[in-house]
Amino acid sequence: TAKLQTVAKAAGKLYFGTATDNSELTDTAYTAILDDNTMFGQITPANSMKWDATEPTQGTFTFSGGDQIASLAKTNGMLLRGHNCVWYNQLPSWVTSGTWTNSTLTAVIQNHCSTIVSHFKGQVYSWDVVNEPFNDDGTWRTDVFFNTIGESYVPIALNAARTADPNAKLYINDYNIEGPGAKATAMLNLVTSLKQQNVPLDGVGFQCHFIVGELPQGLAANWARFTALGLEMAVTELDIRMTLPSTPALLAQQKTDYTTVISACMSVAGCVGVTVWDWTDKYSWVPSTFSGQGAACPWDQNFVRKPAYDGIAGAF
Ligand code: XIL
Repeated sequence: TAKLQTVAKAAGKLYFGTATDNSELTDTAYTAILDDNTMFGQITPANSMKWDATEPTQGTFTFSGGDQIASLAKTNGMLLRGHNCVWYNQLPSWVTSGTWTNSTLTAVIQNHCSTIVSHFKGQVYSWDVVNEPFNDDGTWRTDVFFNTIGESYVPIALNAARTADPNAKLYINDYNIEGPGAKATAMLNLVTSLKQQNVPLDGVGFQCHFIVGELPQGLAANWARFTALGLEMAVTELDIRMTLPSTPALLAQQKTDYTTVISACMSVAGCVGVTVWDWTDKYSWVPSTFSGQGAACPWDQNFVRKPAYDGIAGAF
């Protein structure tokens, strides 16, 4: 059967990729599939470029985990997505419980974004500079950044990232913006305003953590509203979970749902690629986050391709 990067490329997309994590790289049966650049043309570190991993103490940066993923991408000839600079989650406690003013926290954001983006300069295709800024109702998430600085923390981070690596594509990434609705509208309004103000921004990431049989309607039409602004977009964290145990019927519906997502990317010219949030159920984040759910990836926990695999391969 066709390999997924091969078919994505032939279809005019830049990449089909996957998240991976440092702890998974000692599993040689896993890496035997991961390292095939006809299967995966892009990787994203699931954790090792996040704030708690890269700046656990203020001003002290650790890049060993991120460097391992970056060098894997280089060795394998794969694109790398940097994930992420500014996010409310997986923050070290010095950030969340610090006593900040607008000006001191601005300097912290600038130093963090600038240092990590500079470190990986030349190695990263695109950076999720800001991750998950909105609540599901489209209001701003009231995290330490918004509460201290207001929405201008977003351009502050984007400007610092652009200066640090002018060639990296800069993204804002979120979930529950894939179909139309209040949260998608909030994101559209934000990126429209950033573009109008000439803030550096190249793309929007649609995470696509979906549930079998419950995909949002109108994916392609919604995505096209963003690319109409001159932005690119990507499916950045695709997985489609089900209530366990999996059944043949659920796996068949999952295949249909994966097909729907790839087809939506195919019908939007500015959709540059699709990343699954790990390719095997063995290392999916889903079971530990959504109780009773799982089997969300295109390969099962024994690295056997599921019907979803053929859905992806057939839809590019
Ligand atoms: C997840 C990782 O996969 C897990 O290993 C970790 O424990 C929690 O974070 N949205 C994101 C990703 O942007 O960073 C998250 O990754 C999944 C949801």
